[in-house]
Amino acid sequence: EKGGYASFMLKEIAEQPKAVADTLLGRIDAEGSLTLDEVRIPVSVLREATKVVIVACGTAFHAGLIAKYAIEHWTRIPCEVELASEFRYRDPILDQRTLVVAISQSGETMDTLMALRHAREQGARVLAICNTNGSTIPRESDAVLYTHAGPEVAVASTKAFLTQLVACYLVALYLGQVRGTKWGDEIRAVIRDLARIAEDVERVLETMEPVRELARSLAGHDTVLFLGRHVGHPVALEGALKLKELAYMHAEGFAAGELKHGPIALVEEGLPVVVVVPSPRGRSVLHGKIVSNIQEIRARGARTIVIAEEGDEAVVPYADHLIRVPVTPTLLQPLVSTVPLQVFACELATARGNEVDQPRNLAKSVTVE
Ligand code: F6R
Repeated sequence: EKGGYASFMLKEIAEQPKAVADTLLGRIDAEGSLTLDEVRIPVSVLREATKVVIVACGTAFHAGLIAKYAIEHWTRIPCEVELASEFRYRDPILDQRTLVVAISQSGETMDTLMALRHAREQGARVLAICNTNGSTIPRESDAVLYTHAGPEVAVASTKAFLTQLVACYLVALYLGQVRGTKWGDEIRAVIRDLARIAEDVERVLETMEPVRELARSLAGHDTVLFLGRHVGHPVALEGALKLKELAYMHAEGFAAGELKHGPIALVEEGLPVVVVVPSPRGRSVLHGKIVSNIQEIRARGARTIVIAEEGDEAVVPYADHLIRVPVTPTLLQPLVSTVPLQVFACELATARGNEVDQPRNLAKSVTVE
């Protein structure tokens, strides 16, 4: 059933272009607008929502962190993202005009379920983003947008994460569409870009051999740091989580701007640091800042592993290893920049002799609080 792959994880990484395309299927009409009829929350409710609150755990939480950038940019609705396990214990402010989005691959994660029950008790509407038909989370939600990743067997989430991102973008763009924000043209352009993104994911997968080689060369290290800004920050967190759970290494993700407020003290000679670089187009200020961050850590001896867009020449002098990803709109970049980090963690774990499909101490679905 592994289809010739050494692990389910490798198979599921390879299935990502299809998973992404399947999750878009039937949701973009001939005119390039979104049709999310299955989201059975009246459009009037979506128009009047004053706040979006996303609850999720682990990798799904990272998808939520990325969704916040998209939702706030395209809809101007304030969006909070919270770890489901913390949510109900802090007496969150919720009412009928709050749209809660619960993201879960399995649909059975107890922390997420308890968070959504709490939200509904307070009168909020809950939209689930879920990969498992008929599971508990969608059954207890007001509406569900299914991701079509297909069954995910490996404990570490890969293809489900990419489809969670796609679903989050669809929700953000749909909210923008029904509320008619000033970003109408941009929304239409991004829908067109999204429709093509599976090919970009495929292209990334075709260029992963140097990443595997690099991962093997780092098997003897104890620590790897991950840096990013903007949507690259959650990508850095996800890269670190994958490495912890699979390679059992000390891995941490930071917002690159936070470096100087503490984490830079960790940098020493030879420390591998992965940096997720935003596009130099559009948000160029951000790009310049991260290039300085790369210079700062390199000056202190870090071995820099830079993930940057094709054609971004500014990073070249400071990258000990350069991983290229296709040119994509800034907000969509996580769909391509996460993939090398999955491959990196999988290969590094294998090089360290670990069983990637069944990491120690972990279960695929966490049905206890
Ligand atoms: C990490 C991983 C976990 C899950 C988390 C939520 O690779 O798989 O962090 O993302 O346990 O699970 P779901 O999405 O099933 O609610």
